Parts: sequence; C-alpha cells; structure tokens
Amino acid sequence: MVRIKLIFLCILCLDVFSVEKVCSESLYAGEEAWLHYLPIKNDTLRQYYISRLGKVCLAGSKFDETIKSELSESLSDMLSFSPCFVTEKAARLCMQIDKKDSSLGEEGFRMENQNGQIRISSFSDAGLLYATYCLIRLVQCHEPLDRLKIKEIPRIDFRMLNHWDDMDGNIERGYAGNSLWKWNELPDVVNKRCWDYARLNASIGINSVVLNNVNADPRFLRTDYLKKIASLADVFRKYHIRVCLSVNFAAPLKPSKTPDVMKAWGGVGSLETANPREPVVQKWWEEKVREIYRLIPDFEGFLVKANSEGMPGPQDYHCTHADGANMLARALKPYGGFVFWRTFVYNPDIDKDRMKRSYKEFYPLDGLFDDNVVLQTKNGPLDFQVIEPPQPLFGAMKYTNMAAELQITQEYTGHSTYMVYLLPFWKRFLSFDTFCAGERARIVDILEGKVYPFPITAIAGVANTGDSLNWTGHHFAQANWFAFGRLAWNAELAEQQITEEWIKSTWGCDSTVVKIIRQMMLPTWKSFLKSSSPYGLGLTVDIETHYRAAFDIRVHKEWKVDSIGIGTDRTNRGSDYVSQYFEPNRSLFNDIKTCPEDLLLCFHFVNWDYKLSSGNSLRHEFLENLKSGVSQADENIALWLSLSGKIDKIRFLEVLYSLCQEKQDAYVFYSEAMSFFREKMKIK
Ligand code: GCU
Repeated sequence: MVRIKLIFLCILCLDVFSVEKVCSESLYAGEEAWLHYLPIKNDTLRQYYISRLGKVCLAGSKFDETIKSELSESLSDMLSFSPCFVTEKAARLCMQIDKKDSSLGEEGFRMENQNGQIRISSFSDAGLLYATYCLIRLVQCHEPLDRLKIKEIPRIDFRMLNHWDDMDGNIERGYAGNSLWKWNELPDVVNKRCWDYARLNASIGINSVVLNNVNADPRFLRTDYLKKIASLADVFRKYHIRVCLSVNFAAPLKPSKTPDVMKAWGGVGSLETANPREPVVQKWWEEKVREIYRLIPDFEGFLVKANSEGMPGPQDYHCTHADGANMLARALKPYGGFVFWRTFVYNPDIDKDRMKRSYKEFYPLDGLFDDNVVLQTKNGPLDFQVIEPPQPLFGAMKYTNMAAELQITQEYTGHSTYMVYLLPFWKRFLSFDTFCAGERARIVDILEGKVYPFPITAIAGVANTGDSLNWTGHHFAQANWFAFGRLAWNAELAEQQITEEWIKSTWGCDSTVVKIIRQMMLPTWKSFLKSSSPYGLGLTVDIETHYRAAFDIRVHKEWKVDSIGIGTDRTNRGSDYVSQYFEPNRSLFNDIKTCPEDLLLCFHFVNWDYKLSSGNSLRHEFLENLKSGVSQADENIALWLSLSGKIDKIRFLEVLYSLCQEKQDAYVFYSEAMSFFREKMKIK
C-alpha cells in the first residue's frame, strides 16, 4: 500500500508525465524475469519459428520432462502454438546424446541446422537442458535459426550462487524481501517460486546453489533441517543444480562451548572442542557428512567462513586454514564433495593495511590444501567496494584451486534503489592481466584453469534474490543476476551481447526499447563510482547499512584527506601493498603517472593540485564528478519517460519510482560529499 502511494506521489511530482501515456493493460510485475515470453506479433516471424520448431524429437535424457515443459510453455506463449513431440524422422528439431562427442564435456552442446532440421547434440544430459534454454533465448531475441552452428562448452565447472539467507528468513545484505526458502513449510511444501528460481538459474547456466549465510547457523546441520534442504535439492536436481551448505566450523561444539558470536543460534553438536586435529572432531564431521549424503546423494559440499569477522575457525586451536579446510575435505572426499573455503579474512595483527592481510595469510599456505578444496576469494582485497584493484592472490596461488567471489547483491553499490549495472566492472576484473605467468595470465584464464592446471574451476556470486515479486527488488537488478550467470558460463561473451540478451528477453525486442534501456544501463556503474567512491577512494559509507554517506567516520581510518590532498599511500613508500602484484603491475600501480585514474586514491595520496589526464586538477574534477550520481538519475528518468507507452504499466511505474528514489538519495549523498570535501579543501 505504502509503495503504491509512493508511486502515485512520484507521478504527481513529475508534471511531464501523464498516466494515460502508459497504455499497456498488462498487470505483469516482473515475476518471470528474463523467462518472459512475449507473443511474437509479426506473423511471418511467428510462422517461421513454428515451421522450424513445431515438431520436436526428444533425446530420452533425464531432463526430457523439464525440456518438454520449457519448450511447450515458451513456444506456446511466444508463438500461440504448442509443439508436438514426435519421432526423429518427423522432427524439425531433433535432440540427441552423442556418446562419441566427449569434447563437449558434461555440460556442453552443439546446435546446428542440417538441411532444414535443427539438431542439438550433447555428450551428456545436462547439455541438452542448456541447449534448450539457448534456443528459447534465440526465439525471445528474434534471432534467425537457418544458419545455426553453435558449439558451447562452459569454461568453469562450478557456477555458483551464494545466498546469505538466515534461518529466520532474513537475508544478510539482501534488498529484495525475505528468503525464498520457507523453512517452516519445508520439507512438505516447496513453494512454487523455488521451481521458477531453479528455472531462471538453469537458463543462464548456474549449476550450484549455497542456500544459507556464510555467517552460518549450526542448526542447518540438524537432521530436521537436512530433510528440508533435501526437499529443495530434489527440485533443483531437475534443473541440474546441486546444493551446497555454509557450515559453521564450531558446529561440533556443545552450545555452552560456542563462541559469543554464536550465542543467538542453537547448537547442534556435543563436543568439548572443534579442533581439526582431534579424531573425535574428524569423526563428528564424517558422521554428519554420511548423514547428509544419505539424504542428498549429489550434495556438492561446504562453504566456510572461518576466522573472519568473529566466526570460529581452525586458528582458534592454533591450526591453519589448510588444517581446517582439509579436515572437512577429507570427510567429503569419499562422496565426491568439495570445500569452498573463503579467504575473506582481515585480522589486524597481520598488517596495518587491511588490503594486505588476506594475501599474507593465505599465500604461505599455497600447495597445502587438498585437491577437493577451493579457495573462494572476493574479487578485491577490501570488501566488495564499487571499485577495487583485483585481489593479488589470483595469480600468486599456483597450487591451490582458486574461485572468484563476486557480489551480485548491491551491498556497496546502492542496494536495490540505485540502477547500477555491474557487468562492466566484472568484465574488467576478469580480464585483468596478472602477469603471473608472462602475458595473458588474466584472472579469467586462471579461473578457467588455463594458467595453472587447477583440477576444480569455480566462480561464485553473492545472490541478490529474495521473495519480492520481481525477485531482486529493483527490476534492473535482475540484469546483474543474469549477467553473472552468462559470464560464469562464458566470460568472453561481449558486454553488448549479454546486455542485449537480457533486455530483449526481459523487456521485448522493440528497437527503441532496447536502445534506450541499454543507454540507461551501461554508464551506471561508472557514474555511481565517480560520485560515491571517486578515484577508488574506498569505504565512504556508514558502517551498518553501507548505503548512506559517512565520510567523517571513514576518514583517517580508511583513507586520509586534508587541505593538501587525499588518498592512501600503498606504494613502496607507503604500505607497499603494490609489492603483492607481479611486474609490470607492481610498477604500474606504484607510479602515479601510470596508475589507472579510477584507482588513483586507492594506491596514492594525491595532491589536490595534481593534474589528471584531462588536464584538470584533481580538486576540480573530484568535485565535478560528485554530481554524476544525480545527473545519471536525471538522465535515466528522462530516458525512461521517453519509453512511456512502450513498457507495461506496473514495471514502468515501479522503475520510475526507483529512479526518483535514486535521485533523491543521490542528491543527499552529493550534498554531504560536497560539504565534507569542500571543507577539507578549505574552500569557502
Ligand atoms: C561484508 C558484509 C558482511 C558479510 C561479509 C562476508 O563484510 O558486510 O555482511 O558477512 O562481507 O563476506 O563474509
């Protein structure tokens, strides 16, 4: 109700807009995300697809039922026509499993038009499922099918979403409602949205889901919860998705022994210790793992946050991260399970510069982890900032499986209020050349196991989904979820392709709509960066919500500013963080002249008079750029209004409302930034 009122309020404030302009009658509110099957109105095109896809021969794979229902639903919505399922001879679209084509791996597929028949083949069942979604997307994007010659093989094995969902339904850093997992209803009822969630993930290639918060409540390991988890796993399995659990390292402890941080949670164990060297602890985990696999035979493994932000870990017993991870890995090994061990640690005793700490803790452990352990590492050394240089552990770790952890949920990037499209940032991170093994040792090459022969390749994204009707709070935040999946499938896909696929499959193929939406999305990360964390300054927001401006709290702790200049000296004259990189990156970051300008203040303390590449002084450009958040919102409001009448009513108004809210919040941020920095610059 409040929301509806706000929407109308926002319309009233905009006298340029009249409600009548929104002519669509649809009450659609974004619940289908990119699996939105708009009818194809052009009859020639519709007939074209019917003639190519009307008769389908399935392959007899374990996903036949899913494939059949996905094809039937999508084609009948888009073409007003239900495909028939026929024998190979009569088929225009024919699927098959080719056991000779092992080059396709477990998940790849080929799709070719052979003399008028579309043939899809794969080496194993999952490839056919992925091919089906690929084909549906081609139709959604109105692509021709006559010259099809597609071969797709995902380059990373584990393409994971991490949910930071708690047992009470709350989502840590979630901005889209409560958890999708309704623990009270499970295992008897799996709500319909979990099925749709699985479909959406499978359609972009996500094959693994961590259900619960890394700040893990040990009770998730209780038998009653494992049964609930098993019921979700049963649904996700139909879409080739395996489940994983975040576990608390101190789970074996009896409640009276658990550290304070866990007091609010119930216990699950009964031991006096969680020391990984103790046989009794190893046995506890072995038994727990055995119980899990009895209920969930394809269980993927554990994600662990240990000795980080108060969470317990092996260091509590004078053991290393490797000791802790290997103990869990050995319990999982007989069942083919994995440990995803996070490297997000920043113990202040390790180094004064927080950016150096994770590297200093983990680098000496390289080679000591078992082969079913993966070190899950945030993209940057700080904590999911709007921009950060890449974490130097990527490239440094030669003998340990490394996974990147990206943040889809917009913790530091404007929650679900701001439209901030993160794909450009992720692309830049993945294509960063570490030079760890000469040229072309980009982070993506490392993740794909091309630089060092990692037996396991993985990438994780911290999910931005919740139970809000449109899944992600802001309609445009769906694009970040989509882009993460597509990148995880193939990081070489062009920004333009991913973006257009999302726009067309979510909003339709009208060329004006596609053009305007693309124009709105693409600059948003840069403009947000310039106004909220200029030149890579780093933490600028309040400690609790990570949303509001809080320069006065962050200054002197996270970075320095005075009338002379601003930033943090991490060069070899300062904290020497730069030396964690390989050459030539080390020298590049070390030298103010070659350091990328959008990371300048992360590596250097820079004089306000310093001349930037534009010829302007830092002082001038810094203040100018602070406006970019507000001007981006203004531009996007105007662009969005130009689509009035072309977008369905509810989504149109909800996006408009978000943009107005964004403008308001961006203005508050801007005003505070201006007064803080002008005062520091001693500008009257
Ligand atoms: C950030 C975030 C926490 C989260 C932590 C993590 O610090 O604010 O909410 O628990 O990252 O990644 O573990």
